[in-house]
Amino acid sequence: MGQEKRGNVFLITGAAGFIGYYLSKQLLEAGKTVIGIDNLNDYYEVKLKETRLTDLEKYNQFAFFKMDIADKEVMMALFEEHKPSIVINLAAQAGVRYSIENPDAYISSNITGFFNILEACRFYPVEHLIYASSSSVYGSNKKVPFEETDFVDNPVSLYAATKKSNELMAHTYSHLYNIPSTGLRFFTVYGPMGRPDMAYFGFANKFFNNEPIHIYNDRDFENDLYRDFTFVDDIVQGILKLIPEAPKKTAGQAAHRVFNIGNNQPVKLMAFITALEKALSNSLGRDIEFEKVYEPMKPGDVPATYASTDQLQHVTGFKPQTTIQDGLQKFADWYVTYYNKK
Ligand SMILES: NC(=O)c1ccc[n+]([C@@H]2O[C@H](COP(=O)([O-])OP(=O)(O)OC[C@H]3O[C@@H](n4cnc5c(N)ncnc54)[C@H](O)[C@@H]3O)[C@@H](O)[C@H]2O)c1
Repeated sequence: MGQEKRGNVFLITGAAGFIGYYLSKQLLEAGKTVIGIDNLNDYYEVKLKETRLTDLEKYNQFAFFKMDIADKEVMMALFEEHKPSIVINLAAQAGVRYSIENPDAYISSNITGFFNILEACRFYPVEHLIYASSSSVYGSNKKVPFEETDFVDNPVSLYAATKKSNELMAHTYSHLYNIPSTGLRFFTVYGPMGRPDMAYFGFANKFFNNEPIHIYNDRDFENDLYRDFTFVDDIVQGILKLIPEAPKKTAGQAAHRVFNIGNNQPVKLMAFITALEKALSNSLGRDIEFEKVYEPMKPGDVPATYASTDQLQHVTGFKPQTTIQDGLQKFADWYVTYYNKK
């Protein structure tokens, strides 16, 4: 844990979500007081969110409130009552493809909701506001690795546009009201109890339903499509290391910074799929192989992501370490146990 000065109350939004759950658990294990909020929406199976919450509710220092960050009145009341010193905003409508089908959810949670968090931090000052941005802000940028100083004004999905907007809004509020804030561009996060809407989880579901997996890549897939997959524990470590590193206002510079948190080791999608087959084979004790169907890339998808982690390392000394095979093995072991697969 970091050396935060006050650090009395941590507010984690999206606490029943994938990353929010692991972060809350780590903070609780370190003896911190955590207020978790989440609207428990049904974007993916609510049972999984409830399973995560049930685990968090074992800790005395944890309080949960089911609420929507887009509801300004309840957000203000929450801040007034609990006066959190560290706020970590992970609640959002996630997913690139779903932003094509249901754009409204993104405006409500990611724009209105985030605006409410900023307003609450304005009236009830915090030591540090940390919020989730996304690697998707890099759009179809070609220069790799992606660095925080790169030009990111060409988003290719509404999801990415909302995340880039969050960075702009946070900078503005930091400038106007001196809210120390840090935006985190996460790169494809995976792990046990992860998000069923993400490819690796969907591939496992398809396999056990005896259906082929669909790989959306009409390019030369062996050479082109790759992702910087980041194991959830590395994301959480990165956040924990950054909590005590609240940026300070300097002459001409608002107290706002943005960091990549990625693995800095992009993997071709096909290698990732092979690693998942191997991990599931190990968990099941028999060799398995997915049936594969190739389809064109989906609108809003980006061909490649690759994080520079120099800034993160420079400020915290930390760099994600987990290999794809180790991380996927943890996912596969959890999956076959949780869903009782043979
Ligand atoms: N997982 C990734 O690969 C990844 C990559 C880049 C960025 N992110 C960002 O990190 C954050 C956490 O992602 P995750 O993977 O844990 O997603 P998640 O969907 O598992 O968690 C988000 C949680 O927020 C809750 N939520 C959504 N809208 C809300 C609202 N209006 N009010 C209250 N609660 C609300 C959801 O019910 C969910 O439990 C998100 O902001 C996401 O955009 C994730």
